[in-house]
Amino acid sequence: MSVTVRVPAKVNVRLSVGAARPDGFHDLANVFLAVGLYDEVTVAPAETLRITCSGPDAAQVPLDATNLAARAATALAERYGISPDVHLHIAKDIPVAGGMAGGSADGAAALVACDALWSTGASRDELLAICAELGSDVPFSLIGGAALGVGRGERLTPIEVGGTFHWVFAVADGGLSTPAVYAEFDRLTAGTPVPAPTAPPALLDALRKGDTAGLADALGNDLQPAALSLRPSLADTLAAGTAAGALAALVSGSGPTTAFLAADAEAARKVADALAASGTCRGVRTAVSPAPGATVREP
Ligand code: C5P
Repeated sequence: MSVTVRVPAKVNVRLSVGAARPDGFHDLANVFLAVGLYDEVTVAPAETLRITCSGPDAAQVPLDATNLAARAATALAERYGISPDVHLHIAKDIPVAGGMAGGSADGAAALVACDALWSTGASRDELLAICAELGSDVPFSLIGGAALGVGRGERLTPIEVGGTFHWVFAVADGGLSTPAVYAEFDRLTAGTPVPAPTAPPALLDALRKGDTAGLADALGNDLQPAALSLRPSLADTLAAGTAAGALAALVSGSGPTTAFLAADAEAARKVADALAASGTCRGVRTAVSPAPGATVREP
C-alpha cells in the first residue's frame, strides 16, 4: 500500500518584509499564489525511514533528516506515537533552492501522505500547525490557491482567485540561501526605518477579479534588491523577459528563480522562447495559476 500526494510550487506576488524580530524572523505580508508546477511525494511502509528523489535536479536534494519531507513524517509520527518507518519518494519537478517553495511543498506533501497512510484522523488545523513548525512557507503548500500570510508568513487567510494567470519562470544556475537573502535585506536596510509590511488592496482586488494587468501593476518583492545584490546577473534575466513582452518581472521569493507575468498563453510562450535564447538562465518553465494545494492522487 502506498499514497501519492501532488503539491504545487508558489510564487510570491507581493512579499512585503518588515524589520527583523527578536527571534531573527521578519514580519511579513506575504501574498502567495500557487502555480501549476508540481512535485509528487509517494509514501509506503518500510523497515526504516528513508528518502529517495528522482527528477533532473534530484542530485541537489538532501536525502538526510534535514529534508522537510522526512521532518514532516517524523513530526506527525511523534504526535501520534507511530514509528515513522516509511519510504518517502520525491518525484521532483519544482526548481530546487529557487524561491518557489519546493522543499516546503515536499514537507506539506509528505505530511498529507503520511496522514492518509496512517489514518491518524488529524484535523486540517492540526496539520497546518505541524506545517507552521516545519517552516514559514509550508502551510501555504498545504492549502494552495492564493493566500495572504502574516506573522512569519505562516498565518494564512485564503484569497479568492477569479481567473487564470500565465507565468514564465527562469531557473538560474545554483540556488540562493533564504537566510542569506534575509541577512542581505537587513544589511541593505540597516540605519533606515523599515515600514510595517502591508498587502496593497489593489493587488488583492486584481487576484479576486482575475485582472492580469492589475496584478502586473501591483506585484512586488522587498527581497528583490537583496537577491540582486547577491546575484547581480539576475538583472539581465529580468531585462530579457521584460524586453520580450512580459507585463511584469520579479524575483520569486528569495530567488534566484525569476518570474514573469504574461498577458496570455501565447505571450507566455514568446517570453519563454526569448528567455531560453537569451543565455541569461539555466532553464525556462511556463505554468498557470492558481493551482490546488497538496492533494492525494487517486490510484
Ligand atoms: O521558516 P523557514 O525555515 O522557511 O525560514 C528560513 C529562513 O528564512 C529563516 O531561518 C530566516 O533566516 C528567514 N526568514 C525570515 N523571516 C521570515 C521567514 C524566513 O527571516 N518571515
